[in-house]
Amino acid sequence: MSWTAAILTLFPEMFPGPLSQSLAGRALDAGLWRCETHDLRSFGLGRHKTVDDTPCGGGAGMVMRPDVVDAALASVSRNDGAPCVYLTPRGRPLTQADIRRYAAGSGVTLLCGRYEGVDERVLEARSVEQVSIGDYVLSGGETAALVLLDACVRLLPGVMGSAESGVEESFSDGLLEYPHYTRPAEWNGRAVPDVLLSGNHAAIARWRREQSERVTRERRPDLWAAHLSNTTRSSVQEGHPI
Ligand code: 6GU
Repeated sequence: MSWTAAILTLFPEMFPGPLSQSLAGRALDAGLWRCETHDLRSFGLGRHKTVDDTPCGGGAGMVMRPDVVDAALASVSRNDGAPCVYLTPRGRPLTQADIRRYAAGSGVTLLCGRYEGVDERVLEARSVEQVSIGDYVLSGGETAALVLLDACVRLLPGVMGSAESGVEESFSDGLLEYPHYTRPAEWNGRAVPDVLLSGNHAAIARWRREQSERVTRERRPDLWAAHLSNTTRSSVQEGHPI
């Protein structure tokens, strides 16, 4: 059985969406993963297939009912050991380590909420992981689910050719990538850095490393601090002063 994304959503037509194209789309056509949507509306209650209600304690918006979400999750329980993930701006930040863990398993069950959110009790009862894709607010979890799936699918066996497969480097050693250049050597008065045309592979590797460090320091002080404390720790372990 191929790696399966079971997606619970009120908007099943949003899937596979952009993942029907390019790398993920070819992998989908090749049967390397499956994208299975489950319409939350079909688990709704009564003639109106109600899925939400007003928040206890008052306030704006609507909350998805725990009984409805529970019935939907129960219906996909044969997505056996797959982790269940609720996409929410209240979640912990999604990282490449999470993506590697999801991609290494049999698949994921993704709960996409709308409205103000989902009743907390069903999330606790079913051990649902809550993750966020960044510090901004989306109108629903669906686009976040597409982001999570894109990141997983590219790691599945057979999806990436050798050409693309090096590109995990950016995050695996905790630094951002160096800048890239191609022909022409001069464009609109801007030259490609000389070192990249020098043929000196050791000098090129050194320059790229320096650029990676500079870009990380400037743009991501959080990653830079983590990188520094990692390299300090490992050189201490190896008996080097720094
Ligand atoms: Cl995972 N969902 C929603 N609705 N908004 C978000 C998000 C997720 N991550 C950041 N903003």
